[in-house]
Amino acid sequence: MSIRIKGTGSYVPERILTNADLEKMVETNDEWIRTRTGIEERRLASPEQATSDLAEQAARRALDQAGITGADLSAIVCATITPDYVFPSTGCLLQQKLGATNAFSFDLEAACSGLLYSLEVAYSLMKANKKYRYVLVVGAEKLSCIVNWADRNTCVLFGDGAGAVVLENVADDRPDFVIASDLHSDGSYTEILKLPAGGSRNPASPETVAAHQHSIFMAGKDVFKLAVNHMSASCRRVLEEAKVDASAIKLVIPHQANLRIIQSLAQRLDVPEDRVFININRFGNTSAASIGLCLDEAARAGRIQPGDYVLLTAFGGGLTWGAMLIQY
Ligand code: COA
Repeated sequence: MSIRIKGTGSYVPERILTNADLEKMVETNDEWIRTRTGIEERRLASPEQATSDLAEQAARRALDQAGITGADLSAIVCATITPDYVFPSTGCLLQQKLGATNAFSFDLEAACSGLLYSLEVAYSLMKANKKYRYVLVVGAEKLSCIVNWADRNTCVLFGDGAGAVVLENVADDRPDFVIASDLHSDGSYTEILKLPAGGSRNPASPETVAAHQHSIFMAGKDVFKLAVNHMSASCRRVLEEAKVDASAIKLVIPHQANLRIIQSLAQRLDVPEDRVFININRFGNTSAASIGLCLDEAARAGRIQPGDYVLLTAFGGGLTWGAMLIQY
């Protein structure tokens, strides 16, 4: 048996918010945003669209490409930090939308590393039990609903979207799609990137709303340094473990948080920028959705072919981070 990627899909909402639009909302300018982050525009979901709606669109495209229906799925892992509700899980809402009546479904919260963590969990599940023939992994976010649109430090960075991957347990002797992986967490940095209120520690109240504590807080500079250090170390570890040289990688797909983080990473790995996938200019940081969005765009654009080595790496709140070398 081998566990392979059978299909990918992605979705972004229609509404585009440009840097010029942001200039009218906070004291910022296009030049600052482009040079500091690489972002030119991002997508915003409509008020009627929740995270499960974005996830559904991406999932349907992945299922179509895989040539299966929701009923074929054994499990759904949905990575998100912007669930429709605290409970039921967005995974269960998605299961209903897809008619995935044979799947058990749950959410996985690992912030921007969510898709990477979910791939590892789904892969391990399928490896352990071959009755799980098809598993859907989705990263989906409506970050626009947890952004303080009056805070220029954060509101320029984030966007909405979804990315999905269908995994299949195939009866052949090819290698699994996961060649090596390296995942980490460090709970000692919870204060530098968080949503301060709305959970059991600090439940919603008129005071938490007035203090904008239901939106993302981030100490940008600290996050920046840790992101570069951790992602590059993780990438090196998987390459070492797999005994694959960086020159053999067809494409590096890093979490899209900041173009300068991506460029520093490429430099440290000694990978030329044309082998690093970038779409942050169009979508900003979509947290758990970003790697799925990139993977789908890269595959559909023909930038990766079956058999190619692709290096995924992510970093996010928690802290969480990691890398995964896959054979597409
Ligand atoms: N427009 C204009 N000026 C802005 C601004 C904006 N949107 N946001 C911040 N500034 C100002 C700051 O107030 C600061 O002004 P000051 O020097 O007068 O205090 C100045 O620009 C520089 O801010 P600084 O924080 O030093 O900028 P930076 O180069 O570190 O870039 C980030 C800020 C947020 C873009 C960057 O730190 C970053 O991307 N961090 C990581 C983010 C990330 O990856 N998050 C998610 C992890 S998954």
